[in-house]
Amino acid sequence: MIRTTGRVALVTGASSGIGAATARLLAERGMRVVVDYRQSDRAAKEVVAGIEDAGGQAMAVKADVRDPVAVDAMIERVRAEWGGVDVLVHNALTPYAIKPFQDMTWEELGGKLDDEIRAAFTVTKAVVPAMTEQRWGRLIYLGTGLSRRPRAGMIALGVAKAALAQFGRYLAQELGPLSITVNVVEPGPVAETRISQVLDDEEKQRQITATPLGRLAVPADVANVVAFYAGEDNAFMTGTTAAVNGGMSMY
Ligand SMILES: NC(=O)c1ccc[n+]([C@@H]2O[C@H](COP(=O)([O-])OP(=O)(O)OC[C@H]3O[C@@H](n4cnc5c(N)ncnc54)[C@H](OP(=O)(O)O)[C@@H]3O)[C@@H](O)[C@H]2O)c1
Repeated sequence: MIRTTGRVALVTGASSGIGAATARLLAERGMRVVVDYRQSDRAAKEVVAGIEDAGGQAMAVKADVRDPVAVDAMIERVRAEWGGVDVLVHNALTPYAIKPFQDMTWEELGGKLDDEIRAAFTVTKAVVPAMTEQRWGRLIYLGTGLSRRPRAGMIALGVAKAALAQFGRYLAQELGPLSITVNVVEPGPVAETRISQVLDDEEKQRQITATPLGRLAVPADVANVVAFYAGEDNAFMTGTTAAVNGGMSMY
């Protein structure tokens, strides 16, 4: 049986991959979970059904995280049904171009930067007022190791996620006095996600060889770290970055 904590968690981009695994784990830990998504209605409903079958509570809400009107409507619905959001896991992955700088247009690089920071800004603005009022909150942003360690073709994602990580650190400084913690989780390559399906076997093997723990991460590895940051136990870590990459970043 799941013992409820009374906390409400919003996980953006929770119809797939790391977001779905995080939604399931937070529900297992007794949080009521909002499964945000952009278009995969069926997948989002399946995540909710899985949580409910396991005895947890969840609701699926379709909202593009780049759209303030849609995000505000989502938060209003959550507020009406469950009260304010206590935990934000901002995980949604907006599309980006994979190509070298020399082939990239400003619209591609600048567009990804704009999407990334607009989305983080929009969802954060929507949840912080209730956290401020109750003097408790958890903000967790999904970054990537590629924001520190360049990989061919990943300049748009890497630069946008580096900006996201710094956004998080500024929030940690400003919101600390309100007992709102802010942390960034930076996975290495994660299997069972959409991007992993487009990597060829040779690239996957290269990544495994570069990982001391000898395998790729699975979404649950990342969810476990997010859940620590999201929980009551994390009272004193803020402004930190967790590298969930099996040791890959030591090189
Ligand atoms: N996979 C990896 O190897 C890896 C490595 C490092 C970091 N990360 C980071 O971890 C996070 C999750 O990655 P993932 O690979 O698990 O993602 P994924 O499997 O590609 O799933 C992306 C999720 O984001 C949602 N989404 C996309 N655009 C959205 C929007 N505008 N508004 C709301 N939701 C939106 C999708 O919903 P719909 O299907 O409904 O559109 C889906 O639920 C990302 O921030 C990513 O950068 C991933």
